[in-house]
Amino acid sequence: MKDDNFLKENNARQLWHPMGHPGQLQANTPVIVTKAEGSTLEDIDGTRRIDAAGGLWCANLGYSNDVVKEAIAKQLYDLPYYSAFAGTTNPMAIEAAYMVRDFFAEDGIGRVFFTSGGSDSVETCLRLARQYHRIKGAPARTKFLSLKKGYHGTHFGGASVNGNNRFRIGYEPLLAGCFHLPSPYTYRNPFDESDPEKLAQKIAAVMEDEIAFQGAETIAAFIMEPILGAGGVIVPHETFMPLMREICDRHGILMIADEVICGFGRTGAWSGSRLWGVKPDLMSVAKGITSAYFPVGAALISEAVAEVFETAGPEGNIFHGYTYSAHPVGAAAVAACLSETLRLDTKTNAAARGTQMFEGVQALAAKYDIIGDVRGGHGLMTGVELVSDRATKTPLDAETMGRINAAILDSGTMVRMLGNTVAMSPPLVITEAEVNTILASLDTALASV
Ligand SMILES: Cc1ncc(COP(=O)(O)O)c(C=O)c1O
Repeated sequence: MKDDNFLKENNARQLWHPMGHPGQLQANTPVIVTKAEGSTLEDIDGTRRIDAAGGLWCANLGYSNDVVKEAIAKQLYDLPYYSAFAGTTNPMAIEAAYMVRDFFAEDGIGRVFFTSGGSDSVETCLRLARQYHRIKGAPARTKFLSLKKGYHGTHFGGASVNGNNRFRIGYEPLLAGCFHLPSPYTYRNPFDESDPEKLAQKIAAVMEDEIAFQGAETIAAFIMEPILGAGGVIVPHETFMPLMREICDRHGILMIADEVICGFGRTGAWSGSRLWGVKPDLMSVAKGITSAYFPVGAALISEAVAEVFETAGPEGNIFHGYTYSAHPVGAAAVAACLSETLRLDTKTNAAARGTQMFEGVQALAAKYDIIGDVRGGHGLMTGVELVSDRATKTPLDAETMGRINAAILDSGTMVRMLGNTVAMSPPLVITEAEVNTILASLDTALASV
């Protein structure tokens, strides 16, 4: 390893970072994280901070899980790689798929298709959805519906169903045939509707209208996150996802639950779909599947959808997959991570600590006028939207957001800034005292502007 001077000197010089401006990052260099322990990060200067971002909503078990680390190390010696393309497999892939299927059996999941991350998983679901209809003799069902403010990764398919234009505009034209419905975002929506249940009904009406306009027989699938994460932590009303499920069923449209953030306990339930009492046809998962110890994702397939593929003729052939699908080291990470997730019952801590964080932030909203909206209350996904004026809901400007972020960092916490929203999604093993530290950091930072 090169010395600290080399690292600081070369920071962001050769490496282009995801989701950043390569020129600006050379001037304003990223924090070099050198170590992590539990839910705490340490940077190159020895500064320690609580990781209220949980990496990118993914470090569910925190950074010190030896069971996962040892499983990965052992697998590297047993078998570091072999392909899972038709014809070969490996023991850990078989075991991990069994465990993942079992984990999501209550959601109606029957089969598992491993990928290398969330964008891959979304892409796999979109492609399988089209193929499903083709097998069923409905090849015209190719279109996708999704929600504004939804985030589904950055592959072309995922970006096309994405509902935030900053991930789209620079990369257009995107996939044809993707249409967006309003977001269940009570704080800002075109109906000026602040009642979440009424908003859910209005979006359902727009969906019916869009389906009638497009023709149900042209639509393959509808994709949504059970709780929208990167769009700013948008929590739909409990009736929303069931309403969408019912509309999909009525029109023969598959429902894809993008559980890349919500899956594996973050919402206080083992899946976001289960939180809302919905069984999707396909699910995309990643992040918590290995707690970020190894890059793995999966597309999960319901029993009913699986049967269509498995009983089909040659058109059931899946001509899709990745070199690292069912990677043995990734699979070992999945198996160990799932057994640790269950042993530690992380969803229960996520629910309790999530309530603590949500209530703590609500208390801050009573103290600071720049807090326009507080979102969360279901596990460890909390969003704090900042405004310069509560009456007009004017989003707080980027410069002030930057100062707040710096003040939060200075007071010992790492959060994630999503535009004018402070997003918090710490490890699911976070303690009560650590949540109090995060809340104190926010308090200090908000008092400083
Ligand atoms: C809901 C959702 N879907 C898909 C993705 C893309 O995952 P990845 O960054 O692993 O490709 C993300 C990433 O944050 C996500 O939050």
